[in-house]
Amino acid sequence: MTTTRSPQIESAHERDEFYIRQPYEVYSEENHTTWTRLYARMEDRWAEFANRHFLAGIERLHFDQSAVPRLEDVNEFLRPLTGFSAKAVSGYIPAFQFFDCLARREFPTTITVRPGDNLDYLPEPDIFHDIAGHVPMHTDPAFADTLVRFGTLARRAAARARKLPDLDDRVRQLSSVVKALSRFFWFSIEFGLMDDGNGTKAYGSGLLSSYGELEHSLRSPEVQRYPFQLEWVVNQAFEVDSYQPLLFVIESFDQLFELVGELDDWMVEGRLDNVAQGEPDVGTADIRSFLSAPEEVVIA
Ligand SMILES: [Fe+2]
Repeated sequence: MTTTRSPQIESAHERDEFYIRQPYEVYSEENHTTWTRLYARMEDRWAEFANRHFLAGIERLHFDQSAVPRLEDVNEFLRPLTGFSAKAVSGYIPAFQFFDCLARREFPTTITVRPGDNLDYLPEPDIFHDIAGHVPMHTDPAFADTLVRFGTLARRAAARARKLPDLDDRVRQLSSVVKALSRFFWFSIEFGLMDDGNGTKAYGSGLLSSYGELEHSLRSPEVQRYPFQLEWVVNQAFEVDSYQPLLFVIESFDQLFELVGELDDWMVEGRLDNVAQGEPDVGTADIRSFLSAPEEVVIA
């Protein structure tokens, strides 16, 4: 079940079946070997560069390194810790659904495995990125609460847009707000660094699942590292296909939780309605997902 070469998964996605079963029997020997190789080479890097909450999470999840993980096994260890679970998806899911999953403590999880001859770079997520990079963070209660708080912003964004009578205005507002929220997610959950007084370490899953970029993010003199500043982050474009030249450092997950609260306030005050242009592009499917979001506002 290799990324971009799994007809069963791709056809489910084409039918808009976003949430699927993990068809475990379809994984090939190569898939299992790839998982083992990816995992084995990360261990030393994690020991050196990963934040302590991630390392504690890895211990508590008891991954079997010799085979691609079964989501149900992962969830058995994960759920009692924070209520989070990994939920299998057929690929990219529209932005509103992604946020809403987080608010329900479900993490949309890619189940395909990157090709064995391309361990280093893949533009799309795979199970190693999602399970080994993200899920260990979901064992930490403060981090988990932060993700949930972030997820709830989507319903408020949808409700705000709904108040505008003109469809063009709704689209314009949502394009900017979703861009700002995506940038926040990118510079924290995906590529965040943390210095809690014991040196700077990575907590972002894009870093934690990348053999090359994890070390680069913390050691390279080419990388700019600044304290996390909300007004900068929501206006900062990023590119997905090269090592990040600019990273932001938080002090704790309590601080990140407060920053999500501030992001929420800014959104409600309209301060995210016209952020700087540039990546990421917010696609039609994402906008549509917000326009057709359920009406009731549920605040978790
Ligand atoms: Fe990710």
